[in-house]
Amino acid sequence: MTKNNTTNKGAEKLFDSIGKLFGIYFNISYYGIKKFNLKSLKVWFNLLFFLVVMFTFTYNYDFLVILNKIMPNIFTVSVLTFFVKAPWIAYFSSFSIFGILLSIPLFGLEEYKRIKAYQKDFDFLSIKAGNGSPPKVIRVVEVDDFKTKVILKSEGIGIDRYKTKTNDLTAALGQIVEEIRSCNNPKYIEFSLTKKSLPKQVSYYEIEKEEAKPYSFSIGESLGGYLYQDISTLPHMLIAGTTGGGKSVFFKQTLVSLLKSSNNLQLYLLDLKKGVEMRPFENLPNTKVIKTEKDAVATLKNIRDEMDRRFKYLEKKKLKEIDPVRDKMDKIIIGIDEASVLYTKSKNNSKNKLINEARELTEELSKLSRAAGIHLILATQKVTKETIDTKVQENIGGRVCFRMNTLQGSMTVLGNKMALTLPDIKGRAIWARGNKFTQIQAPFLSEDELEEELSILKNELVSKERKFHGPMISTDVLKTNMDDEITDLEKNDSSGASRSPE
Ligand SMILES: Nc1ncnc2c1ncn2[C@@H]1O[C@H](COP(=O)(O)OP(=O)(O)OP(=O)(O)O)[C@@H](O)[C@H]1O
Ligand SMILES: [Mg+2]
Repeated sequence: MTKNNTTNKGAEKLFDSIGKLFGIYFNISYYGIKKFNLKSLKVWFNLLFFLVVMFTFTYNYDFLVILNKIMPNIFTVSVLTFFVKAPWIAYFSSFSIFGILLSIPLFGLEEYKRIKAYQKDFDFLSIKAGNGSPPKVIRVVEVDDFKTKVILKSEGIGIDRYKTKTNDLTAALGQIVEEIRSCNNPKYIEFSLTKKSLPKQVSYYEIEKEEAKPYSFSIGESLGGYLYQDISTLPHMLIAGTTGGGKSVFFKQTLVSLLKSSNNLQLYLLDLKKGVEMRPFENLPNTKVIKTEKDAVATLKNIRDEMDRRFKYLEKKKLKEIDPVRDKMDKIIIGIDEASVLYTKSKNNSKNKLINEARELTEELSKLSRAAGIHLILATQKVTKETIDTKVQENIGGRVCFRMNTLQGSMTVLGNKMALTLPDIKGRAIWARGNKFTQIQAPFLSEDELEEELSILKNELVSKERKFHGPMISTDVLKTNMDDEITDLEKNDSSGASRSPE
């Protein structure tokens, strides 16, 4: 009984697989047949050539012997005898039919593979009709080296659904969507795509917006155009990638971009590689560069206290979040380059105490600080729970991931292999926001350009042409007089903020 059952199941599976194989065969052959254009002389020439070759082979006894050697189970001696005895016409036509049946799919294979690849890209977008059925790629026509037309059978999914997802389509297909239009039969939709590769380098100045929104910064050039991001809505960002990919350059351009787009900013830059990368920022009156673990922890603690103070203020004023202009409090950006240096535990016990504190403070800040106008930007080569706490990772809204050398590295930052398959181009990265992944060429700002921008910013800040409220938070004293300030705030029932502008 059991044996019978097993045999039945085995047979069922076998039939199933054979059925599937036939399905694929007919599918590919269908594309192959469609490729035949009987009006084309080339097709007739190829067919004639094929028949001549078949004739030469089949009229040759040695060929049968070879077939017997290759496939002895099919071309058995009795089959061979049948062929030898059969009249030449039967002999020739059976081989021709066999040859044609085998070669037709070869013509359709390319098209089949192309359709499958596009189908995968469209599936990635998870667009489905009300009944749950996804759109189906029907045809792919390569117009020329750059242009492709894709025809989609899209029952129950209107054209507008695709139009609102043009950016996602561009990212998924790796091509620019030039046009989306309905075909004569409204069930079908035609996409005109064009391949344009990203430039290998794009200058910071090419992307920079003249009149950028406050608190926004440049992300880079994507196939769909230049991208910008408002830090208020992120609210925290991670920059990852192997050494030399462009993390520090991106980190610095982000800061310059933010500084240029916004008033009322305070920057606290933790650079435990002795402040080498962040040195150019040191002269700005609204920026502090922190170089040691001890000062880093002190700064984080003081910013945490500032966060508490801001929450008390919000509660008292029944407000949802800090508005730097209304509340006369600056947005605070905590930037940490080489974040793993601050968070990775060592064998040294006293150092570990600091590291634990830094980890706890960062978690606290990442969880709550958005409403208080406090944002984190972390850059690191490796992202593991040892380098960046999982809870901090969960609170990060945007990730810029430069090339990664390992699948695991790419998986931990993006949850997919996109950073592993990036071309080896400096500044090439994936910008990930929620479930959306976009390949970008990051803005390049040279050291000289950086120095120049910072000297202009310094002059503007000193002359108060560019404003910030201040005062700056202490970076080297663990205890502050924040508690007194909070009490003052509670006592002071008058309107406006407790802090006076600098
Ligand atoms: N967006 C960019 N476009 C072109 N070249 C870039 C870009 N970003 C970085 N580079 C080049 O790559 C070099 C290394 O960049 P960067 O110092 O930012 O790398 P990193 O990822 O911070 O490396 P590490 O992990 O070693 O600190 C730069 O000196 C610059 O020449
Ligand atoms: Mg670096």
